[in-house]
Amino acid sequence: MTDTDAPVVPAASGPDPDWWRQATVYQVYPRSFADTDGDGLGNVAGVTEKVPYLAALGVDAVWLSPFYPSELADGGYDVADYRDVDPRLGTLEDFDAMVAAAHAAGLKVIVDIVPNHTSDQHVWFQEALAAGPGSAARARYVFRDGLGEDGATPPSTWQSNFGGSAWTRLTLPDGTPEQWYLHLFAPEQPDLDWSNPEVREDFHTTLRFWSDRGVDGFRVDVAHGLAKDLVEPLRDANPKDFGLPVDGSDPLYDRDEVHEIFEGWRRVFDEYDPPRTAVAEAWVARERVSLYARPTELGQAFNFELTRAPWDADAFRTIIESNLLLAAESGASSTWVLSNHDVVRHPSRYGLPDGADGGEADTDAWLLSGGTDPELDRDRWLRRARAATLLMLALPGSAYLYQGEELGLHEVAELRVEDLQDPVWTRSSHQRKGRDGSRVPLPWTPEAPAYGFSSTTAHLPQPAWFADVAASVQDGDPGSTLTFYRTALDARHRLQQGEELDWVDAGDPQVVHVARHEGWHSVTNFGTADVALPAGTVLVASGPLAEGVDGAARLPGETTVWLDPRG
Ligand code: NOJ
Repeated sequence: MTDTDAPVVPAASGPDPDWWRQATVYQVYPRSFADTDGDGLGNVAGVTEKVPYLAALGVDAVWLSPFYPSELADGGYDVADYRDVDPRLGTLEDFDAMVAAAHAAGLKVIVDIVPNHTSDQHVWFQEALAAGPGSAARARYVFRDGLGEDGATPPSTWQSNFGGSAWTRLTLPDGTPEQWYLHLFAPEQPDLDWSNPEVREDFHTTLRFWSDRGVDGFRVDVAHGLAKDLVEPLRDANPKDFGLPVDGSDPLYDRDEVHEIFEGWRRVFDEYDPPRTAVAEAWVARERVSLYARPTELGQAFNFELTRAPWDADAFRTIIESNLLLAAESGASSTWVLSNHDVVRHPSRYGLPDGADGGEADTDAWLLSGGTDPELDRDRWLRRARAATLLMLALPGSAYLYQGEELGLHEVAELRVEDLQDPVWTRSSHQRKGRDGSRVPLPWTPEAPAYGFSSTTAHLPQPAWFADVAASVQDGDPGSTLTFYRTALDARHRLQQGEELDWVDAGDPQVVHVARHEGWHSVTNFGTADVALPAGTVLVASGPLAEGVDGAARLPGETTVWLDPRG
């Protein structure tokens, strides 16, 4: 890999080093966002083209999932070169133009960084294959001899997150079996060995490469996986379904040594003015998430609890309360996520049967049924989703939005199995359809062939119902989800001050009433029957209000309102 002399593009962050604390961040999945060159695959220029749309939506920052050269074994999370743009998505010049356009519109830019594993096409892995056992090239990865007399048994029982063993055995061109290598995800994603100083140094170079190009922050993939206990004999890891221990004792995830790596990253971020920001993807026990968010490390960590929460007042209360406390302890601000490229979109999750918690077991079964069992009541579940979104946007901290949620998109559960791209489908022996249903290219207009996404057919099939929910159809419609998001984000900007949250006793367990300050209250009715609307001026509502027999406005079920109780 060579480091090029990147032009220094100043960040638009201005003098405020705390811009991220309460930002609204919009996640772009680049291959499915907008295609300007007619190959059916979204590209970097597509993001540039949509900067005015994002600015008008009212978000503060855009986070790009990987756009790097990749064989797409895992939707771009298999990176072949960390310091370039996939030629199918554009060039570094296109990237610079995108950053310049975003900054000119007042938007920050966050890029995804994937440090746990490279692609098997990465020059390092190719060198490791050629160099053979015991070489320095292999020491960048985790190669081991197999167990048993003929070495045919994998070096440990570790399982891939996508299903099957986390080890793959190499075979020489003449068919002779060789060493095994570790991959916590697909076989095309070999894990790096982070105890190797060369690996650490190279990622510092990558962080500087993008920071020098004006990037404002980083989203850190599998942050909890970098440090591993590789002392032999390799110990069994905790079964995925039981959650991780809280004492850092799992050999693969959330080990205490990982924090030293991120202290090194912080030193790189602080070379810049304003310092570059970061958010950790760390699927660890609740009380350990905030360790990654310490100001001496990444500064912020994803709180994914709302992506697994049922539509339930108590569940939301507990999640909000505990995560605000934990964020305060670490000196970070909390983060909130309802949807992203790894989970079923939240309107569809809210349609699962009562008792389902939105976890993988429930969503996998529903996806396997092609979205027919249960059948979605699209309007009702969208109503809940809008109410959840408005509550989320009232909370102190950063809200991460996923492309298309502002259009009220449901999961595309009807994808045919022959169209699936996610490695989860094959690695799970066809037991899990995976994540493609949230990654279908966006509908911008109702027209063929790709609803404004591309001038040709999109790389994942788009359903016919996209015509009804396209951005252009919703634009200007006062009742549309797009208008609702624009209104809510605009109000959030105007109302936001301080990072406090007070709980107001609504006297009804189904009602969650919180106050950011005296002029900004948020009230959510999780029940189905309408309830009295607290006194005040309604600032934003997630849906139409109801009317009581006395003609007074009431708060319907499955609805959130923001109120100014003073007038
Ligand atoms: C988390 C990413 O969000 C997901 O899409 C990816 O498959 C894994 N990390 C592996 O990189």
